[in-house]
Amino acid sequence: MKSKILSLLREHDSDFVSGQEISRILGVSRTAVWKHIRSLKEGGYEIESHSKIGYRLIETPDRLYGHELSSLLKGKVFGQQVIYREKVGSTNELAKELARKGASQGTVVIAEEQTGGKGRIGRVWYSPAGQGLWFSVILRPEISPIDASKLTLICAVGVAKTIRETTGIAAGIKWPNDVLIDHRKVAGILIEMNAELDKINYLVIGIGVNVSLDEARVPSELANIAISLEGQKKLKVTRVALLAALLNNLDHLYEDFLDGKFSQILTAWKDMSVTLNRWVKVVSGSETEEGIAFDLDDDGALILMKKDGSVKKILAGDVNVQE
Ligand code: BTN
Repeated sequence: MKSKILSLLREHDSDFVSGQEISRILGVSRTAVWKHIRSLKEGGYEIESHSKIGYRLIETPDRLYGHELSSLLKGKVFGQQVIYREKVGSTNELAKELARKGASQGTVVIAEEQTGGKGRIGRVWYSPAGQGLWFSVILRPEISPIDASKLTLICAVGVAKTIRETTGIAAGIKWPNDVLIDHRKVAGILIEMNAELDKINYLVIGIGVNVSLDEARVPSELANIAISLEGQKKLKVTRVALLAALLNNLDHLYEDFLDGKFSQILTAWKDMSVTLNRWVKVVSGSETEEGIAFDLDDDGALILMKKDGSVKKILAGDVNVQE
């Protein structure tokens, strides 16, 4: 009902729409209309009300409300269900809980703020209120668990492509899935899986995009590592539009992947890579390897050419691109 009222107000642009007209079109009482308008105002919408002439929408808040997002989504899977929270520990944790209880593929869990945002390798992901996109998507692909790691590259392509299309900033990808601007991290991806040997029960794709981190408050250990989109070009990013564009792109890529077009996605990954043809140091557990990152294999593993000319295939690790 809220989204229907908002669409009506938006159709009338800056004109007033009477409570009577809204109640007639939507088939609800005028009191019900008034209650919905009050709840929209509580949610941050600026709506001018006049007893005789009705309501007029002045401003939409910068929030990632499900009803705003859903109206912009075009995909078949991503965002079929949207769960919105002001604050959670971690959207990945909430998504896993929902997935365990049977939530359907494509469910998106969004939070304005995470108090326990998780990064890869047990790191913390800084997720202050309203300053980024912090969300997770539940997927249930009918693929072998061995192929799940390809999704990390697919998501990185989705994020970098969306940043390029919506802001014009040339975001690059560091293997396997960090998205960088000027060598600093603007987005990260954490995929968690619940599977049996030959069957994935569910995957949770967690994505964090720094949109407008308040530089004065960024923890000092992140100061030279993290970057946000708005800090870049003094541009203004509408988070809900960015999130919708990202989910729409991911939906396309996911469909292509399931249709057997992973090699096309790998080509896009390579085009946006900041890792290939560079000297890199890769840390994986207690092991460190160094060499030129000269290609990815067909499954997305990183191929290193070491100093002695030998070739090493890297399946997982933390890459340091040497300047
Ligand atoms: C990384 O690069 O280390 C991965 C960062 C992933 C962060 C996102 S924010 C939304 C989702 N919820 C989490 O707790 N983590 C992911």
